[in-house]
Amino acid sequence: MDFIPYGRQTIDSSDIESVIEVLKSNYLTTGKRVNEFEEAIASYCGAKYCVAVSSGTVALHIASLAILDREDKIITTPNSFLATANSIIYAGAKPIFVDIAKDGNIDLEWVEERLRIDPSIKGLYGVSFSGNMLNQDRLKEIRERYNITILEDNAHSIGATYRGIKAGSCINSDVSIFSFHPVKGMTTGEGGAVTTNSKEIYEKLLTLRNHGMVKSTDMKPWEYEMRELGFNYRLTDIQSALGLSQLKRLDDFIAKRRDIAKSYDEAFRGTIVKPLYRYNPESAYHLYVVKVDFDKLSISKEELFIKMREKNIGLQLHYIPINIQPYYRKLGYGDEVNSNMYRYYKEAFSLPIYPLLSSSQQDFVIESLFKVLDVK
Ligand SMILES: Cc1ncc(COP(=O)(O)O)c(C=O)c1O
Repeated sequence: MDFIPYGRQTIDSSDIESVIEVLKSNYLTTGKRVNEFEEAIASYCGAKYCVAVSSGTVALHIASLAILDREDKIITTPNSFLATANSIIYAGAKPIFVDIAKDGNIDLEWVEERLRIDPSIKGLYGVSFSGNMLNQDRLKEIRERYNITILEDNAHSIGATYRGIKAGSCINSDVSIFSFHPVKGMTTGEGGAVTTNSKEIYEKLLTLRNHGMVKSTDMKPWEYEMRELGFNYRLTDIQSALGLSQLKRLDDFIAKRRDIAKSYDEAFRGTIVKPLYRYNPESAYHLYVVKVDFDKLSISKEELFIKMREKNIGLQLHYIPINIQPYYRKLGYGDEVNSNMYRYYKEAFSLPIYPLLSSSQQDFVIESLFKVLDVK
């Protein structure tokens, strides 16, 4: 059997044709496909504005620069990819790591407790982990009660909803980001986007994406003005064409991911392999995470990963707590009492989930997992 990774892209001939069409055109970048892609993403998630950029990390970077001030204290989760917390530091602000709840998302009760104790906290960088959206009702309450800024990292969650509220709609946040890395819900190779409903934030994002440069109709034809320090974080037309083509099939991709999640749930019912949360029909299931209490087994997590790899199955761990990374320890982090996160870190791992995972491959993953764990 070919190697089964934890995630991968789904590319078909319509994607390939869309890319070829751009390659044959006059504009490989700064052409009309980028705007079309931005409009399509904004309309898909119900936000007013979208700025497409060259990665999810870059999306986090400019979102942070557009909203945060130096020294701002921002609550975030230890259970994310490094880039979420890093982006707070890019803006010269200070992350505060708050523990997670049972579903792997930041515990919004603890968030509220921290806000109550420390009114100087400016905002929350929330992550809708694995495609399972943050509780939007609590987010709304907390935002109104404490008047904080909310940034949402929806890198895992394009296409997810919470009681009908779409990821990226920014109904309860100032800004939200997506990643279009190949393992994500849809891909542009590398790529990302920021959505917002604020015109002011939108204009800042556009400027930051393009060297801090501004051009206007009252300027001479050659003129431009650099008003702040920006970057070249543009997405190309080639990538945007791929994104437009993928977006058309995103709902099908997610339906397939949900079917796979359901089959895993079914296979693990009543066993020692515990799905991270009960089946959620609104999750985009970017990841399928399970927990196993290795203290009760003769096999360690490391041995499990090695033995599954020998069977050509790629497990992954999402994530090592960000606050205990060497860089963060040097900054004085790492001693937070995030007991749920540390326990999760010991027990959790991600199983393969992507639209092209066939049912026989999924059966093989399940069977191999039980065999290696030596349980059923
Ligand atoms: C939660 C989260 N945020 C941000 C990123 C960064 O996205 P990218 O890889 O597109 O830079 C990732 C990527 O893995 C992620 O999982």
